[in-house]
Amino acid sequence: MAEIDTVALGARAEAMIGELAAISAEPNLLVRLFLTPEHRRAADLVARWMHEAGLAVSEDALGTVRGRLGEGPRLLIGSHIDTVIDAGKYDGPLGVIAGILAAAHFKGHAPVPIDVLAFGDEEGSRFPAAMTSSAACAGLFDRASLAMRDREGISLEQALRSYGKDPAAISEAAYAKGGVLAYVEVHIEQGPRLETAGQPLGVVTGIVGQNRSQIGVTGEAGHAGTVPMDLRRDALAGAAEIVLAVERIAQKNEPSGMVGTVGRLDVHPGAANIIPGEVRLTVDLRAMDDKARADAYASIEREAKSIAQRRRLAVAFEILHDEPAVACDAGLQQRLADIIASFGGRAPHLPSGAGHDARKMARLCPSAMMFVRCRKGISHNPAEYCAPEDMGLAIAALIRFIENFARS
Ligand code: HGY
Ligand code: MN
Ligand code: MN
Repeated sequence: MAEIDTVALGARAEAMIGELAAISAEPNLLVRLFLTPEHRRAADLVARWMHEAGLAVSEDALGTVRGRLGEGPRLLIGSHIDTVIDAGKYDGPLGVIAGILAAAHFKGHAPVPIDVLAFGDEEGSRFPAAMTSSAACAGLFDRASLAMRDREGISLEQALRSYGKDPAAISEAAYAKGGVLAYVEVHIEQGPRLETAGQPLGVVTGIVGQNRSQIGVTGEAGHAGTVPMDLRRDALAGAAEIVLAVERIAQKNEPSGMVGTVGRLDVHPGAANIIPGEVRLTVDLRAMDDKARADAYASIEREAKSIAQRRRLAVAFEILHDEPAVACDAGLQQRLADIIASFGGRAPHLPSGAGHDARKMARLCPSAMMFVRCRKGISHNPAEYCAPEDMGLAIAALIRFIENFARS
């Protein structure tokens, strides 16, 4: 096995992370959304890197950039290049860059055929659905999501066509089950466990189940100065009670590790001197226990209806996506743990509270994830940071994983 220079790999990865992070829709913060000009520029950069690594580059109908090495049933390695709003630089890109640099190590002759995948929509930051591009690769694309619209009212179907893609070809993006051996994703932990354990690398045991929903609260807009308090049907005051109910219900389920978040509140008309008539809020609910999560969501609906009734408001619920918890393949977990141990590490095994493309790919083939330590566990935040030496070690471990996988 050829020697691996983890310092050089880490430095190269850091440079690539910086180059990709410079591609943003905003000058002072990182935001790169699905099927936007920034996605196009990022995809072109990733395609150039893949080409330089000796991979044959293509793009599927959802815009996923694919770098192919070798022919026959293959190992898939990937992550996403879209970001949240005001993002960190590593969430997603690290996994794509790790795959490219690991593939490049084999100088065109990988011990096992490989596809490196750069998904364009994991976060669901532009359209309500998330992980649509890995869903298409896994043969799970829901064509109803083509009608989903972004905040400008552009549908996913329109955005795909403007990006030069043909929605009719989406089914061709699906891998045949017989053509795929496994999927592995390298990703920052986005939590503090590895840093606390003093370990650079970890093995993911599974990904939490999660549902993302939207609650619409309708009251009556009115003059802030003339409508007496007892006659108001204030949609925002009602929504505020619902926000606290979400928090309380999730806290009650703390022992199961459940988390509940209202991340977005759209208030209409949104003027200082108008009683809000309409509010839409998002609810993100996650737990490893799908039954507990379903029960908690039912409690949220019940409480929201009771708040609405007391306040003479209308309330409507829309599930945007609902994903069961998935387990990572036990055999692949063991391989990753053994390889990390061969580098002198003692890899913690931990569940992922964040969603990842591996969630969809696990429905296609045996899938695994390797977590990389990130400073203070900070993520979805420009302060997100992953040390070059940890990235270099992760890429070296991925190279050894590929060699080990080939031997099996
Ligand atoms: O929301 C998540 O967990 C992921 O970052 N998309
Ligand atoms: Mn993310
Ligand atoms: Mn991510």
